Amino acid sequence: MEYNIKSGSPEKQRSACVLAGVHETRKLTPAAQALDEAGAGFLSGLLRKGDMDGKIGQSLLLHNVPGCAAERLLLIGCGKQADLDDRQYRKIITAGVKQLRQTGATEAMSFLPELDVKARDYHWKIQNAVQWIDHELYRFNEFKSKKSEPKKGLHKITLVVPTRRELAQCNTALTRGMALAAGVKLTRDLANRPANTCTPTHLAEQALALGKTYPAVDVSVLDEAEMKELGMHSLLSVSQGSAQPGKLIVFRYQGAGDDSKPVALIGKGVTFDTGGISIKPSAAMDEMKFDMCGAASVFGAVAAVAGMELPINLVGLTPAVENMPSSTATKPGDIFTSMSGQTVEVLNTDAEGRLILCDALTYSERFEPAAVVDIATLTGACIVALGKHASGLMSNHEPLAAELLRAGLNAGDRAWQLPLWEEYEKQLDSPFADMANIGGREAGTITAACFLSKFARKFHWAHLDIAGTAWVSGKNKCATGRPVPLLVEYLIQQCEKNT
Ligand code: BES
Ligand code: MN
Ligand code: ZN
Repeated sequence: MEYNIKSGSPEKQRSACVLAGVHETRKLTPAAQALDEAGAGFLSGLLRKGDMDGKIGQSLLLHNVPGCAAERLLLIGCGKQADLDDRQYRKIITAGVKQLRQTGATEAMSFLPELDVKARDYHWKIQNAVQWIDHELYRFNEFKSKKSEPKKGLHKITLVVPTRRELAQCNTALTRGMALAAGVKLTRDLANRPANTCTPTHLAEQALALGKTYPAVDVSVLDEAEMKELGMHSLLSVSQGSAQPGKLIVFRYQGAGDDSKPVALIGKGVTFDTGGISIKPSAAMDEMKFDMCGAASVFGAVAAVAGMELPINLVGLTPAVENMPSSTATKPGDIFTSMSGQTVEVLNTDAEGRLILCDALTYSERFEPAAVVDIATLTGACIVALGKHASGLMSNHEPLAAELLRAGLNAGDRAWQLPLWEEYEKQLDSPFADMANIGGREAGTITAACFLSKFARKFHWAHLDIAGTAWVSGKNKCATGRPVPLLVEYLIQQCEKNT
């Protein structure tokens, strides 16, 4: 999709479709008001007849509106002006593009950014409009023999702001929105691919391709021999059961000076999680192709940051493995020495995410990171605790947790913090090794984070459990691209803190 921004009045636009808002009850927004005046009261007349009262999500498509130079006018219900917050704005933007794609318009001009969203400026409204329009228009067609979109579909959207004065701050917002949208799309495409295509080797190839697209991103890939050399026996204990070799992908983006310490993002990249010898039940097992969504979100965040040319140093690490049962697979009770030197008794081979993340955490020490954030579809227990609306957040450093929570709020990609008290740690005690890889039935999300925290003692660290947020199930099964918006917002805020 091509996105543009301009200033102008709605009645003069020679567009295939103009989008304008109507508040409840039948209250015209400034753009709708201008169109009404140009048409000598045509719109207010229609509304009075009861065709639309402005409830959120409503829409009314009109052709050849008197006084309007555009072919179509699409009125969108915006709800009560006093209720217009972030979530309402998202609903309005989404409803607008949903309706728009039903029309024959190949191009459109939206006046919805003029809406007065509580405590939000034009920069926020434009960046998020781009991001959410793109999100709504996303389709994953790679494996359909007939692509579902008609060739002559919608291809250009112009966002309109009232005057030239707003344009300046909006140009950065537009660039950022587009870069974020590209990152989110990359995350969703990788995640939606089936596991027979999207193997650890495929992820490694895609990483190298990303490095070609963004020359500022340096990519290297460690193979199993190199990981063995480093002592990553915990990570390798997961990949040893699979015919697909494991990889550790390393992204480096240098947007700031050498003296500026990087943020490190670490994403769980289990390209398929059968559970291994502790095999999963077969119901919905296909969804375990999404067990690399953490890794995919690192790809997306790196791409977005590079696209925005943010003045920050960023390291992205994605351990990538396939978790399979086989004669070479890890057996319950097997003990491995991690790169940190700590030993782990693998009581359940289905708790594999922490086994690959712990070695990546230790590896990240060499970058002397200012902060490390890992992202993982780590525990089913997180879905039980928080459902599909919030990612679980745990951290060993309160200020970092606070920054991530705030970033999530700003980006409409929320997280919710769970405690990481040391009382939980004894659930991981093992009679045979330094720790077990599972902590029993209680507080499964927290004990998983406790396990990781033992490998994050040397830096500020936060863990995002995205088991509930990374994809939606059901008829419209699809990766969501979360938590890329949260991560990128956090990184933008780190840049603003530094300047
Ligand atoms: N990838 C799963 C977690 C998961 C399950 C995410 C369902 C999203 C939906 C993870 O590797 C796993 O299997 N976790 C186990 C841990 C348990 C064995 C301690 C779980 O959650 O059951
Ligand atoms: Mn598992
Ligand atoms: Zn898993």
